[in-house]
Amino acid sequence: MSIGGSLDVGGHIPAPSADALAHSQRLVAMIEASIRAEHGGLAFDRFMEAALYAPGLGYYAAGARKFGPEGDFVTAPEIGSLFGQCVGQQVAGIFEELGHGVLLEAGPGTGRLMVDVLEALTILGALPDAVFLLETSPELRERQHALLRRRLPDYVARVTWLSEWPSDGFEGVVLANEVLDAMPVTRFRVAAGQPLVAHVVHEASGFSWDWHNTDTGSATRLIERYALPDDYTTEVNERASAWIRDLGRRLHRGVLLVIDYGFPGNEYYHPDRRDGTLMCHYRHHAHGDPFSYPGLQDITSHVDFSAIAEAGAESGLRVAGFSSQGGFLLSLGLLERAEAMSDAMAAARQVKYLTLPSEMGELFKVMALSRGIKQPLEGFSLSDRTSAL
Ligand SMILES: C[S@@+](CC[C@H](N)C(=O)[O-])C[C@H]1O[C@@H](n2cnc3c(N)ncnc32)[C@H](O)[C@@H]1O
Repeated sequence: MSIGGSLDVGGHIPAPSADALAHSQRLVAMIEASIRAEHGGLAFDRFMEAALYAPGLGYYAAGARKFGPEGDFVTAPEIGSLFGQCVGQQVAGIFEELGHGVLLEAGPGTGRLMVDVLEALTILGALPDAVFLLETSPELRERQHALLRRRLPDYVARVTWLSEWPSDGFEGVVLANEVLDAMPVTRFRVAAGQPLVAHVVHEASGFSWDWHNTDTGSATRLIERYALPDDYTTEVNERASAWIRDLGRRLHRGVLLVIDYGFPGNEYYHPDRRDGTLMCHYRHHAHGDPFSYPGLQDITSHVDFSAIAEAGAESGLRVAGFSSQGGFLLSLGLLERAEAMSDAMAAARQVKYLTLPSEMGELFKVMALSRGIKQPLEGFSLSDRTSAL
């Protein structure tokens, strides 16, 4: 997600280079072949999966720049170290109660958050037993390795890369910053009180929508639960819920910290949000067309935090806190850390982007799901909105 100051919503999308276009065309050809094999349209979640993760071609699986000013979006750890310092403070508090455990980050991007958190844990004397990075992209693994080698050369040998959750149970802390929003979603619209599930077909003019009566039950439940009206279009992130349940079965003791943009269910499925939250990012332009330049742009949706809390509960995790990102970081001493920085301008810029409601402070939320943790978490000491879920 780009932050407000550098985000152009709508407007003119810059044209890709000839090489980038050729790359996108290869992915389009692959998706067209999948559509032909399906005889009647590819479910949108599978289109999104291919556009983002098709090996060697998808947005996160190929070499696109993605993160930072020259990429497509900026995430909180990329703005500066204050975010990671505050997260590190929270992680240290959890390790104090746990006594020991591993630190695992899912979807670590450039590796910046992990490096900042490990530096904070070093200062606090709270380093974990082991560090795992759950990352499937070879290109991103290489970037993470290079950053760790440069910033923490003595520590890099203790880091292990994983392609899936550890098969055995474990104790510790799991971080997921802007990961759930990148998972493929099922899109649906309501017609005569029933869900029609979005599929993608290919015509001479390019990809377009097709709507099928193929709901597996989750869209129907949402229509009933939130009384969604006809012509309402939205998404449900079944993969995120399954992912949380999977982790919940493995996390024997500890905390999962989910940081992402989104809302409690009744805000997500508010009657006024009639076209869902699907959003694409291409070179700091945000727009709503997932069929534009497949493989070159990010495709995301917001997170329904009520659904995440429920998925956690199904595997025995309880909500140990739910707050805006602004409230979470301020609870962990963001302002005091900023004051201690020698570059006052850089400090003020980070605080502004991380906490202002017009930037990342309010739309972004932090949810802690825990098992076997009794102490209240410091990050929710100023504000805890668990009752809004
Ligand atoms: C928007 S990026 C965020 C990267 C980083 N956490 C940051 O904040 O800069 C989303 C990342 O989530 C990863 N991701 C998506 N689904 C995942 C899954 N099921 N398991 C682990 N990582 C996943 C993507 O590959 C991508 O690297």
